[in-house]
Amino acid sequence: MMKLQQMILGLSLFATSAFSQTPVYLDVNQPIEKRVEDALSRMTLKEKIGMIHAQSKFSSAGVARLGIPENWMSDGPHGIRQEVLWDEWNGAEWTNDSCIAFPALTCLSATWNPQMAALFGKSIGEEARYRNKNVLLGPGVNIYRTPLNGRNFEYFGEDPYLSSQMVVPYIKGVQSNGVASCVKHFVLNNQEKWRGHINVIVDDRALHEIYLAPFKAAVQKGGCWAIMGSYNQYKNQHCCHNQYTINQILKHDWGFDGVVISDWGGVHNTEQAIHNGLDMEFGSWTNGMTWGQSNAYDHYFLADPYLKLIQEGKEGTKDLNDKVRRVLRLVFRTNMAKERHFGSFGTEAHAMAGRTIAQEGIVLLQNNSLKNVGKILPVDLNQEKKILVVGENAVKRMTIGGGSSSLKAKYEVSPLAGIKALVGDKAEVTYVRGYQSPALAEQDKKGAEVPKDEKIDPAKLRAEAVAAAKGADVVLFIGGLNKDPYQDSEGQDRTTLDMPYEQNELISALAAANPKLAVIILSGNAVSMPWVKNVPAIVEAWYGGTEAGNAIASILFGEVNPSGKLPFTFPVKLQDNGAIALGAYPGDSINETYKEGIFVGYRWADKEKIQPLFAFGHGLSYTTFEYGKPMADKKSMTADGTITFTVSVKNTGSRKGKEVVQLYISDLKSSLPRPVKELKAFNKVELAPGEEKQVSLTINKDALSYYNDVKHEWVAEPGKFVALIGSSSRDIRGKVPFELK
Ligand code: BGC
Repeated sequence: MMKLQQMILGLSLFATSAFSQTPVYLDVNQPIEKRVEDALSRMTLKEKIGMIHAQSKFSSAGVARLGIPENWMSDGPHGIRQEVLWDEWNGAEWTNDSCIAFPALTCLSATWNPQMAALFGKSIGEEARYRNKNVLLGPGVNIYRTPLNGRNFEYFGEDPYLSSQMVVPYIKGVQSNGVASCVKHFVLNNQEKWRGHINVIVDDRALHEIYLAPFKAAVQKGGCWAIMGSYNQYKNQHCCHNQYTINQILKHDWGFDGVVISDWGGVHNTEQAIHNGLDMEFGSWTNGMTWGQSNAYDHYFLADPYLKLIQEGKEGTKDLNDKVRRVLRLVFRTNMAKERHFGSFGTEAHAMAGRTIAQEGIVLLQNNSLKNVGKILPVDLNQEKKILVVGENAVKRMTIGGGSSSLKAKYEVSPLAGIKALVGDKAEVTYVRGYQSPALAEQDKKGAEVPKDEKIDPAKLRAEAVAAAKGADVVLFIGGLNKDPYQDSEGQDRTTLDMPYEQNELISALAAANPKLAVIILSGNAVSMPWVKNVPAIVEAWYGGTEAGNAIASILFGEVNPSGKLPFTFPVKLQDNGAIALGAYPGDSINETYKEGIFVGYRWADKEKIQPLFAFGHGLSYTTFEYGKPMADKKSMTADGTITFTVSVKNTGSRKGKEVVQLYISDLKSSLPRPVKELKAFNKVELAPGEEKQVSLTINKDALSYYNDVKHEWVAEPGKFVALIGSSSRDIRGKVPFELK
């Protein structure tokens, strides 16, 4: 008996001592900072260096000896990219890595619904987690400065407030899965042309009010755990290692405690990489990388060259320890977090989330009544029995191409397939191509497709479509841009505002042949519409991902009432864009001065009194909304207070619908020039036919502030302001003056 008791005591003592010996860094109940310090104290110099640069195209080493796992990254931002070969961009030919492709970020932004951003983030985060990625390379929050930027489709549009409101829930959704959201590309990466070196010269107000604002929200409100530096330069320093943007603004002023990851190949110099805030280096094409030399990753700027400087006593370890702390923090927040998530991949729930987001993001741009016919949309299947679909984008795969956001999707419903599925046997659906893009033969090293020489005869294709249109009850043209080079694609900018492949000629010819025409554009950018007066119905349907076709069909045939609003201005012509009008794009190949300053997007159109083709915030519905007279809860606001505006909105049509009520602020008198108005709040509400709701919009002094570039701080000047409330930036339904005391 005695013996047994002793044995039990002995065992329990052993258990306690074994438990107390659990290293702090492995104890998930310990605070992260303690775990970080403990792990750091156990690591050798070489292990530390090993953690701050790539070991393959998309991963970095852990510390195998200590059980600290590797970090695995994936693009981002619209789905989890296929597995690639260890050292290459090419696919690894796995058979279990086909993802759900979510809509492009322009579409998400066009929902003007932060709940959709949360759903997007949660869903893509689950896909990342299942695939054992602990860093999602996205979302991108670079501002839409010109309609030519090849990567605008990967961003949230032209307005810093809208971008900020949408990026925060996206990040939180992703990170709720124990996956870090790596917000990119910090900062001033507003074009692809010369992106690797162009030095951006921008005034401090535009920098803070326009370009930094969404990143600041991502860090301070979204709490993102990672940020990707951009390829371009600012103050003649590359933005992957930049004293001003990373050390000063991001880490010092904003208190960012996560990792700064380089864009792939964005590191240029060991000294700067050590001192100017970079924490992890990826994709460098240094030394061995291009030639396949063995141990190429050891030649990275933050690998052997850094190690050597430390070993020779030319560098201390303070910077290194700071970098490693940040990487460890990333690991403890994700792969070694207290709560281990499992994720899910390629699920129906994710596909349906993507479909819902696409449905909420599609924008009905125009829906004019035709004489004796009425409106073309939604297409009435009781009336229209011969439906003609024209256009390559009705059948072209849009989840492939475009650069690093290219996806191997589990499936993709094309618009034609979506339409056919919805129509069933209620009508006859025929298809004619109408125009054709050059076939793409092969992929270049970065995965971009390159055209194959092939004879295409646009006039013949057009004639076929026109002949078919004459006999149709209704014509649905589905075109726009695509993910080929020089369109919505990474690495190059567009060269014109026009749609390619003679689509404008085709649309005009179709309109002449059959006035019952709807034009559906798939793009991530504004396009010109010289035929706008001749086409009654126009839809911007973006890139919708896996469920694109079903989402588009549900809108065209009225199963879903459109409620998207434009996240950027559609100008009539390129010259209506500030940067282009001022000759401030694309720079002289060395420098580029953002001469338009804060007057980006609608801020420029307002200032210059330019009528846009379709304004920022514009988007129609199949129902109509009537706004009451807006009121404020007080006449003046104090610097530490808030003010709430309320307006009644009534659905005066016969269909359920959603309206985005938008609040813009106009500063009547300011010591510095200010935009005519700026978006500062919005609220999307759903209303049944006849229903009326009171919609509230609350602001505080942030909404009245500008960045004072002399004091280097945000300032709200007391005085008179006006709140403009409406359905778009150019459809203001009511105004309320108020004062800041
Ligand atoms: C892109 C990044 C991307 C990275 C990895 C770069 O070329 O600019 O957005 O995350 O490649 O694919």
